[in-house]
Amino acid sequence: MKKLGLNELREEYLKFFESKGHLRLPSFSLIPQNDPSLLLINSGMAPLKPYFTGDQEPPRRRVTTCQKCIRTPDIENVGKTARHGTFFEMLGNFSFGDYFKNEAIPWAWEFVTKVLEMPEDRLYVSIYEDDDEAFEIWNKKVGLSPDRIVRMGKADNFWEHGTGPCGPCSEIYFDRGVDKGCGKPDCKVGCDCDRFIEFWNLVFTQFYRHEDGSYTRLAKPNIDTGMGLERLAVISQDVNNLFEVDTVRNVLNYVCKMAGVEYGQSEKADISIRVITDHMRSTTMMVSDGVIPSNEGRGYVLRRLLRRAARHGKLLGIDKPFLHDVAMVVINESRQAYPELQENADYIRKVISIEEEKFNATIDQGLAILNEFIEKTKAENRKVISGDMVFKLHDTYGFPLDLTREIAGENGLEIDEEGFQKEMAQQKQKARDALKNKGAAAWGDDSIYGKLDKNLKTEFVGYETDESDSKIVYIIKDDEIVENAQEGEEVTIILDRTPFYGESGGQVGDTGYIKAASGIVRVTDCKKTADGKYLHIGVVEKGLVEANETVKAQIDSARRMDIARNHSATHLLQKALRNVLGTHVTQAGSLVEPGRLRFDFTHFSSVDPDDLRKIEQEVNEKILESLPVTVMEMPVDEARKLGAMALFGEKYGDIVRVVKMGDYSIELCGGTHLKNTSQAGLIKILGESGVASGIRRIEALTGKAAIEYFNERERILNEVASALKSNPQDSVKKVESMAAQLKEAEKEIEKLRSKLVTSSIDDVLAKAVEVKGIKVVTARFDQLDMEGLRNTGDTLKNKLGSGVVALATSYGGKVNFVVTATKDVVEKGIHSGNIIREVAKIAGGGGGGRPDMAQAGGKDVSKIDEALSHVVNVVGTQVK
Ligand code: ALA
Repeated sequence: MKKLGLNELREEYLKFFESKGHLRLPSFSLIPQNDPSLLLINSGMAPLKPYFTGDQEPPRRRVTTCQKCIRTPDIENVGKTARHGTFFEMLGNFSFGDYFKNEAIPWAWEFVTKVLEMPEDRLYVSIYEDDDEAFEIWNKKVGLSPDRIVRMGKADNFWEHGTGPCGPCSEIYFDRGVDKGCGKPDCKVGCDCDRFIEFWNLVFTQFYRHEDGSYTRLAKPNIDTGMGLERLAVISQDVNNLFEVDTVRNVLNYVCKMAGVEYGQSEKADISIRVITDHMRSTTMMVSDGVIPSNEGRGYVLRRLLRRAARHGKLLGIDKPFLHDVAMVVINESRQAYPELQENADYIRKVISIEEEKFNATIDQGLAILNEFIEKTKAENRKVISGDMVFKLHDTYGFPLDLTREIAGENGLEIDEEGFQKEMAQQKQKARDALKNKGAAAWGDDSIYGKLDKNLKTEFVGYETDESDSKIVYIIKDDEIVENAQEGEEVTIILDRTPFYGESGGQVGDTGYIKAASGIVRVTDCKKTADGKYLHIGVVEKGLVEANETVKAQIDSARRMDIARNHSATHLLQKALRNVLGTHVTQAGSLVEPGRLRFDFTHFSSVDPDDLRKIEQEVNEKILESLPVTVMEMPVDEARKLGAMALFGEKYGDIVRVVKMGDYSIELCGGTHLKNTSQAGLIKILGESGVASGIRRIEALTGKAAIEYFNERERILNEVASALKSNPQDSVKKVESMAAQLKEAEKEIEKLRSKLVTSSIDDVLAKAVEVKGIKVVTARFDQLDMEGLRNTGDTLKNKLGSGVVALATSYGGKVNFVVTATKDVVEKGIHSGNIIREVAKIAGGGGGGRPDMAQAGGKDVSKIDEALSHVVNVVGTQVK
């Protein structure tokens, strides 16, 4: 058998199937496209589903790939055994209604025995129990003896994944020898031990499985095969497991080097080494494909893996961020097959180290708290850590649930998962309540809105027109349905049709007027109920309005236009962000008002000012290019095919509204827009900030607000210039020269100040008094800070030769004292610390210190002189 490296095996396989007429496609992204049923790609066929179902035309009927895959159902076992891993590559050859069993089986045999030169007497195959056709091909065409063909039931040899294409399969096994086996007398193909390893699955997708569990035969059967590349390498390289395969082992060796440990010496360290090795393989690939750590969906899978790896680094004694370095080794090992890894290397390192640093900042604290919880739980003789504790670790210290579970497990404890989920739900509910309270009305079914005609939906005519003839269907006042309302009363009015946009998709509601025969309602906001009623919230400004009367509904068109400027600019902004920062940018929220726009998006770090300028410039260019804005309605699938940006996780109806700006931007959107991008005038980005982990926010102005902004800036500049007695062009120079002058002046002041002190030193010394043979000097230096006071104290003490010096200052409005004494007087009983305590007390302060040196603060500036005059008294009491 040929011994080949993992990268060589991949190449041999793809080359072989190219020679059989297959088109080689690069691996698809780990992020599924248009497949909400899947969080991450987990098999070679997953991204090809539309070709199998016929929804899309494949580029060729025969395709071969090596696909990056992630499977995470048993993260907790990864590391504990050498069998489990979260990342692997799947080799596959696919036929979309082209060849079938007759070709797939002999080709597989040819690759295995001729290309890889596996000995035939080590190979076995399994087939689905009723699949005589496959038996015939293996037996007659390939020439395999019947005792090497094992029939198995549906559980083993029928491949299906939810609804969709499926069928019987045939698997190829390699016999690794008796010594690898469990030794049981009935050990054979299918045994769970390490002897017979299944490495290639050939699926004959002949059926389509429906929702109700029934099957229909496909007009044209397909071939889907899957061979785990790492597993194949285990066989080819004759090693024991995944972690000993060449490329994986290189990563593992690096981890050992970082930790200064050897693999295979201690089971405990080996677990950590394997966890880091595996998790860095999967996370490097995920980040490269645009997954960002977060608390939801695939972002959470990534976060769990990274944090688990970080913690195992700690267990190995690595105390600095290191995962991004391990990622570099992964990149080096795999860049041949995945050139994007090299291109994204800097980005990958950055995302990983940011997440690691974030976790490192709280992990120690979190671990300490968790240990406390564990001790407490054990002390109380309980086996389960309570849900609120687990929640606290998650919420405050960023411990993913399974990490807490794992650490608890290591201590023989379990966690109360149900309790944890309850806490989570409560938190979410609180967040929802907080949101709800912000809204104008509570729209639960028990509110007044639940009592209205369920079938009534307001017809929205605001895309085409700014005003309409409408009928008032309901007037609601103080949570009650009323027949009429009069001047001064606050009301909510529901019309049969309206041009008012109801707040949604981040765009605020319209304002305007509802004009009746004998009254006018000023509408200050408009919202939409879940069942399609538009609530016009406002106040009767004049006269009387009545239910069932016909009115004119008119929006504030100028305001609507300002909103449209901001909304259209938001679309341009999203596109520019993706162009400049990368396609990992997706919308995470937005607020579109008349005065400004706010756009939240996924991005891992702050946007640097250069990029921000580029983004702003690109949007301004697209405004100047006067791109026509077109709106179309179409089936959601068609919109996706056009590449329309949709909000992740948002549910859209079958028919969606698509807003397109030239060929530049295309988004699913229900908002109101400009007719042409030039109507936005211009955009000015005000700034960028972080709102949550991995989420950034941009605020910007367009149209009139942007012009006002520039005018305001100009006005400020003019004012600054005139205050400087300069003009705008020369202002910066002027300020710089003034700052330099100021610095000079400050230096001069400093010089003068110390001169002043020096010159007064002799005066101060001259005023020394003697108490019981001890010279005492007291003085105030209000121009000195504490440090200056201490230095001056030393100078005075030296000049004095023998005695006590007590100084005070009120510099900066703060009272400070310093007392210092020469050695000879200390020996006579003088204690500076005790002196200062007595003295500072008088000025409302306290302090103390050594016999030769002490300092203290005080509160009352007016008491400084009194305090200083007390020094001689204290000195008198200290000398016998
Ligand atoms: N789709 C098949 C599998 O994942 C080949 O095993």
